[in-house]
Amino acid sequence: MIFDNHNRPITYLRLAVTDRCNLRCFYCMPEAGIRYLPKQHLLTYEEMERLVTVLARLGVSKVRITGGEPFVRSDLMSFMHRLAAIDGINDLSITTNGVLTAPHVADMAALGVKAVNLSLDTLDRDRFKQITRRDELPAVLRTLDALLANGIETKINAVVMDGQNTQDILPLAELTRDQPIDVRFIEEMPFNGEGSHYPVLHWTHRRIMDEIRSFYPDLAKIPDPRYSTSANYQVPGHQGTLGVIAAFSRTFCGTCNRIRMTAQGTLKTCLYDDGVLDVRALMRSGATDTELEAAFLRAFAHRPANGFDAESQRATVTESMATIGG
Ligand code: GTP
Ligand code: 5AD
Ligand code: SF4
Repeated sequence: MIFDNHNRPITYLRLAVTDRCNLRCFYCMPEAGIRYLPKQHLLTYEEMERLVTVLARLGVSKVRITGGEPFVRSDLMSFMHRLAAIDGINDLSITTNGVLTAPHVADMAALGVKAVNLSLDTLDRDRFKQITRRDELPAVLRTLDALLANGIETKINAVVMDGQNTQDILPLAELTRDQPIDVRFIEEMPFNGEGSHYPVLHWTHRRIMDEIRSFYPDLAKIPDPRYSTSANYQVPGHQGTLGVIAAFSRTFCGTCNRIRMTAQGTLKTCLYDDGVLDVRALMRSGATDTELEAAFLRAFAHRPANGFDAESQRATVTESMATIGG
């Protein structure tokens, strides 16, 4: 296993397979979309398989497929089959918006996909349309049903947005009553592709917690899995759990085991850094696996201590979450 310069093991790769998306969540990208990468700038599946193999040799054991929306890229399932076969990768997960996912759920279960994180900010069709600028809630709910029916561990990611969906906190939390779902509420981050920065974040993790506690006074803290981004809770008697992710306040950097590969093959050692290594260029210029390994090790030895450090080392943030991979 490889440890970084702050003694954190690097075991988890978030791999963005595309920057494209079939939704337009306003906190992620502008209505017109972002300027998508030309196809030749995207890593090919072969390149991704190669770099996962190299990273697996360095101790990465968990890969989460992200995007954009992963299922917008063609042939995703056959790529996932190839990833699952890589020595050392024992946890394959995916974060999806659920619009195109339902037909692939049985195949994912057969493949042993451990967990699916479903992005869903509201159960109200009108608000879904307002937030995502698309009328796709029914398709997402079909995916949720399919995940539960196939016994795949399911987390719902809900970004909490002031004036948009705070009335959805209770209905989303109520999903945990009768279903084994983990519903996680996320602080909004300034990655909407337009470079805007909020002067203050109104819905901090503390405020979200206060809101949840007001509905469930007997809410109990449960142990957080190792390296968890969420602080986790359960309402006694509920089947599922509740979590809050302090993505903006960045309370979990001290145990961060994650690195990211953007769809164009840039390595990020923190969500808030600017990209520290052009892996695509390295691979396309003929680097050997040993050279790739060495470049990764150099990058891991210079990770920022936390997201605030990383942010302070860069210019303004104009990225979309869809290019970063979340
Ligand atoms: P698990 O594997 O289930 O623990 O998933 P995860 O929480 O690592 O990933 P997911 O794709 O479900 O992301 C949930 C939210 O957490 C998103 O808003 C991510 O951007 C955010 N998040 C994930 N990793 C980091 C991180 O390293 N730093 C920050 N600040 N936020 C993160
Ligand atoms: N702030 C917080 N979370 C975000 N996500 C996308 N954009 C943002 C943002 N600006 C979340 C999505 C998805 C995960 C990968 O990132 O809801 O679940
Ligand atoms: Fe698409 Fe996810 Fe961005 Fe929404 S947050 S536009 S679903 S990539």
